[in-house]
Amino acid sequence: MCSVMFLTGLLLFMSCAVVDALDNGLALKPTMGWLHWERFMCNVDCDRDPDNCISERLYMQMADVMVKEGWKEAGYEYVCIDDCWPSHQRDAQGRLQADPKRFPGGIKKLADYIHSKGLKLGIYADIGKYTCAGYPGSLGYYETDALAFADWGVDLLKFDGCNMDRALVGEAYVNMSKALNTTGRSILYSCEWPLYEWPLRQPNYTAIRETCNHWRNFQDVYDSWSSIKSILDWTASHQDIIVPAAGPGGWNDPDMLVIGNFGLSHDQQESQMALWAIMAAPLLMSNDLRDICPRSKDLLQNRRIIDISQDSLGKQGYRTAKMNGYEVWEKPLSQNRLAIAVMNRQEIGGPRQFTIRAAPGWKICYPKCSIKQILPQYKDMGIQAPDSNIVVTINPSGTALLTLTPISSSSFERMHKRVWQDISIKDKHNTVL
Ligand code: GLA
Repeated sequence: MCSVMFLTGLLLFMSCAVVDALDNGLALKPTMGWLHWERFMCNVDCDRDPDNCISERLYMQMADVMVKEGWKEAGYEYVCIDDCWPSHQRDAQGRLQADPKRFPGGIKKLADYIHSKGLKLGIYADIGKYTCAGYPGSLGYYETDALAFADWGVDLLKFDGCNMDRALVGEAYVNMSKALNTTGRSILYSCEWPLYEWPLRQPNYTAIRETCNHWRNFQDVYDSWSSIKSILDWTASHQDIIVPAAGPGGWNDPDMLVIGNFGLSHDQQESQMALWAIMAAPLLMSNDLRDICPRSKDLLQNRRIIDISQDSLGKQGYRTAKMNGYEVWEKPLSQNRLAIAVMNRQEIGGPRQFTIRAAPGWKICYPKCSIKQILPQYKDMGIQAPDSNIVVTINPSGTALLTLTPISSSSFERMHKRVWQDISIKDKHNTVL
């Protein structure tokens, strides 16, 4: 970890800044996919609601749409089952089994189908005696369940923390991590360790990062703006503790994207997308991809926002300023670039104008920088200097998202030279013609 004591202070700081991640080679970038919980919850009534109940059909249909409608191409890869998939009884060998009526083919067959589409399958289990919705938990069966998941070809496990002694939560998550590792199959491990430990004590994020590929810190997301705000507020108020833990291989998980459902205005959907990208959060949508409005779809598939989320530097952004009813969040990107999100938290009045130079990250614009606005719509804002007065217009509860690329004086001069060369080449052509 930090054994290279002979390095200079700066290098030492850099090498220690990100603690070791779970060494399974997965989640080098924030996970992207779809997870059933927020939208479909524990709907098991397939007789009356066959299209929306938790059944193999639901995941097969989502997978089909993900391939056909550009989701897979945009990077969404995991199709994830949440709670309520199993039968209430384990089988004769003590293995979990899918509810036979709702999953007649079993999980292995479903995994084969999802894989045939070039996608990956996620499943759900719980550290305790029962899952949060009362289905069989994994307590006493960690090895058995890990082996079953590996056998079936599962690619991700969301391991919940209900119905367990709080004092044993950490130990339980570590034990399942080891059990998954022992199977020899690459299974991405999604935890809720800190969420269940916070009421007791401050979780050990170094240990969490060594154990899990992402981890939930805070309450379940709901399809409402107040829920999104509470997640952002919690994250900002704990950023000193949680942001340093994030990096390739392990991420803080603020829960699902609820874009495309019922509770958020379009501006609020843009805020969720922008801030989840800034937070380097897993992008796990919980919505109905079979029936989603084109604007929400375009937002979720916006390549420029996805690029911010998936940036190779792998640093989580954080809130850098709160002023005048605005919040500024900033995420360092590769090649010294910076993403800035300015959220208008004033929920009265109309659109307001924010002068970008008020953002703390503006300092990278010395001596010059190139600015692109990504939300609310794409706009190349050109090359700007420190005294620039450019503004972004932001609706109430909306967010402006920008990228800043610093231009050093030498590269600025080189660029100018190139432009002039281009012009003179064209001029020559014109004369010849
Ligand atoms: C907990 C989790 C949710 C979901 C439900 C399922 O509340 O935090 O994300 O998995 O359990 O019962």
